[in-house]
Amino acid sequence: TYVIGAPCIDVMDRACVDECPVDCIYEGERTLYIHPDECVDCGACEPVCPVEAITYEDDLPDGQEAFLADNARFFDQPLPGRATALGSPGGAAKLGAIGADTELVATHPRT
Ligand code: F3S
Ligand code: F3S
Repeated sequence: TYVIGAPCIDVMDRACVDECPVDCIYEGERTLYIHPDECVDCGACEPVCPVEAITYEDDLPDGQEAFLADNARFFDQPLPGRATALGSPGGAAKLGAIGADTELVATHPRT
């Protein structure tokens, strides 16, 4: 899968969303998350991000390895204020902004 890392936090340019052929880039509160099971590894999102937040899972920059598991966690575990996990919604557009983040992102320092 491809992964969205720390540079997206509080930037959320969303250029990536328009490129994804399977609509698997979901919007939280401070960042976006790629669904690891829905992503087909096409790579179309990677070059359009102005802050280079998107990388293939094997190419995560030093210090950002945690974002691989964290993108998955956004879907696998209930988010704050929600009783159930998102699971595999099969498309981000119909959900819109989720309005919550994983703990890793929610506690990320604000710049
Ligand atoms: Fe974020 Fe870059 Fe997409 S800033 S929303 S990963 S284009
Ligand atoms: Fe979509 Fe990027 Fe994966 S465009 S299919 S999230 S590589």
